[in-house]
Amino acid sequence: MTLPAVFDTYKESLDATLRSAFEGRDLGIYQMQRYHLGWIDAEGRPSNGQGKGLRPMMCLLACQAAGGDWRKALSSAAALELVHNFSLIHDDIQDGDIQRRHRDTVWHKWGLAQGINAGDSMRGLAALTLVKGANSSHSASQVRLAVEGLESASLEMIEGQFLDITYERDTSVTTEQYLDMIGRKTGALFGCSFYLGALFAGCDGETVDSWRRFGLDMGLVFQIRDDVLGVWGDEDRLGKPIASDIRRKKMCLPVVYALQSTQGADQDAMQEIYGSGDPANEEEVDAVLSVLRRIGAKDYCQGLAAEHKDSAMRRLDALNLAGEMDAQLRGLAAFFLEREH
Ligand code: IPE
Ligand code: IPE
Ligand code: MG
Ligand code: MG
Repeated sequence: MTLPAVFDTYKESLDATLRSAFEGRDLGIYQMQRYHLGWIDAEGRPSNGQGKGLRPMMCLLACQAAGGDWRKALSSAAALELVHNFSLIHDDIQDGDIQRRHRDTVWHKWGLAQGINAGDSMRGLAALTLVKGANSSHSASQVRLAVEGLESASLEMIEGQFLDITYERDTSVTTEQYLDMIGRKTGALFGCSFYLGALFAGCDGETVDSWRRFGLDMGLVFQIRDDVLGVWGDEDRLGKPIASDIRRKKMCLPVVYALQSTQGADQDAMQEIYGSGDPANEEEVDAVLSVLRRIGAKDYCQGLAAEHKDSAMRRLDALNLAGEMDAQLRGLAAFFLEREH
């Protein structure tokens, strides 16, 4: 299961657009960001530790699939990747995670205060990149809608991060609340990625909104699978510690399901473990994992992810795209459902 082949055609131009956002910016704060983006190692030497680049690639794919010239969406694509990476720099602070993409996280390396600065500054660069990329091939109304779309999605993403943290100690969180939360923290930027691509392809308001909804469903599939990998994934392939969400007692979907659906001894054990603020010890991690196994939590999560994939595919049917582009998007959805990294 791999990413769509068409992503390869965008790679070079996207990389060049992203790197140009940092041109002439030599202050240490930009080095921290280059490090986070995987362009340099901790000693400042060139390296290769980038993320998957999903959001910008999805934006460019949507633009092409909707009949546009994907080059027109390049600055939006770069802005999306910067917003995403800003959120990761801050998310690692919020989650207390010390490893991402097989490397030390920015805050772990430079401290909390500078981690906040690095993230804030990347957020600023994102907005600048979007606006500065506007040229005569973009209409004023497209640019205004793009700025509004990216800002709204960023706000929603932070609302999601807020809810995520709020739910950490709340054993009464329902699946519905959980889905609303991930729709914000992950789904909003996914939706915006497809929205921006369709916008710069020249689609009308109704069509760009269909793309956004499609992206939201794709984001839910992606994040539910992320929760599954966070509990049962392979540490080496993911580049971040496994079961860390259980150690930190995060309300990931498998745990929400266990808290909602168990009774008797399993419910008591879950309440006792998740009711206390201390990180889970090894015994508690094992106890949670065995409850999850007993109730088939992994199958439940995959089933829910599959429902959202089906919903995304119905939206895709309605978009009625040309065969090749349609196939690339279906392949992407299949990757989100089954990916191992
Ligand atoms: C990680 O996103 C954060 C989530 C929304 C789960 P990605 O898995 O897209 O991160 P990178 O950029 O590829 O590392
Ligand atoms: C990441 O959420 C979502 C955002 C940064 C908006 P998580 O905290 O669940 O993702 P990972 O596991 O750190 O990548
Ligand atoms: Mg995190
Ligand atoms: Mg988080």
